[in-house]
Amino acid sequence: MDDKKILFSAIQPSGILTIGNYLGALQNFKKLQDDYNGIFAIADLHTLTVRQQPSVLRANVYQLAALYLACGIDVSKSILFAQSHVSAHAELAWILNTICYPGELSRMTQFKDKSKRHEDNINMGLMDYPVLMAADILLYQTELVPVGADQKQHLELSRDLAIRFNNLYGETFKVPEGYISKSSARIMSLADPTRKMSKSDANLNAFISMDDDKDTIIRKFKRAVTDSDNKIVVSPEKPGISNLLSIYCAFTGLTFEQAQEYFEGKGYGDFKIAVGEVVADKIDPIRLEKNKFLSDKQYLDSVLSEGANKAERLAYRTLNKVYKKVGLVLRNR
Ligand code: TYM
Repeated sequence: MDDKKILFSAIQPSGILTIGNYLGALQNFKKLQDDYNGIFAIADLHTLTVRQQPSVLRANVYQLAALYLACGIDVSKSILFAQSHVSAHAELAWILNTICYPGELSRMTQFKDKSKRHEDNINMGLMDYPVLMAADILLYQTELVPVGADQKQHLELSRDLAIRFNNLYGETFKVPEGYISKSSARIMSLADPTRKMSKSDANLNAFISMDDDKDTIIRKFKRAVTDSDNKIVVSPEKPGISNLLSIYCAFTGLTFEQAQEYFEGKGYGDFKIAVGEVVADKIDPIRLEKNKFLSDKQYLDSVLSEGANKAERLAYRTLNKVYKKVGLVLRNR
């Protein structure tokens, strides 16, 4: 690792990802990996906070590793690894638990949402989720965390815990900054544009999965909920059209003004097909590339194992520092 700043982010292997994950996270990871030392994790321990079928979770870990690579994460520049392979994550989470208060965790929006959705399994892990996320970030002396807007509250907690620990025990952690890109911070559902696009939506037409083929993508965009006037502009009164324009701009790199100008005078039907086409043109090759990586499990295992070795070295540097600061006796090796 050279002296560039550290960037850390992670994604849960909790099923097939959507273009929300791609635009809010993966696309930015690829862009930023030249300017930062990128560290990217598969947040498998986080996924356990919602009941999983073990064989499906295992398959999803490989799916996500392959997707990271297909989206352009270059392991000669960046570190890619599974969170559970570096036990320092769980260890630091324990220490951070001792300076975090239940009230801070019970008021987290995601905890409240997920408690509603999984009423039969409101476990301690679900509540402690943001502390493990803080451990992920702080272990690497991270300066930048690219995420979608839904993770902002968790990121704030990471910053608070870093500052609190530094105040209690002396300068230990860098205080991380979020990187939330404007046009793609919050991609909304195609069926209900007032809600976030989410892979756990029961309505399959509400999201575009990274595994959808071109026909499916275009069909889903054709069905996207819009409104009854025929103006293609960004406006709070037009959440459906605004969301489609955000998606179009995030995939083409155009500004809202440029896109609005381009679609002036066109009808919703043509507009929706145009959005579907730019999305499919980007997603289709990624899906094919991902499937290539998936067919070589041995390669994926070797990538994850090398990534974990590199991550572990960095993580234990911080963890040892933390253990010393809080008064634990370091094991003599
Ligand atoms: P996860 O797995 O839910 O989502 C992965 C990333 O995708 C972003 N995202 C979206 N962005 C825009 N629009 C959407 N509709 C949308 N849906 C999801 C998320 O904001 C996220 O960036 N807790 C994290 C994983 C995590 C993590 C970390 C992230 C664990 N440790 C440390 C950063 C740093 C999560 O559940 O993301």
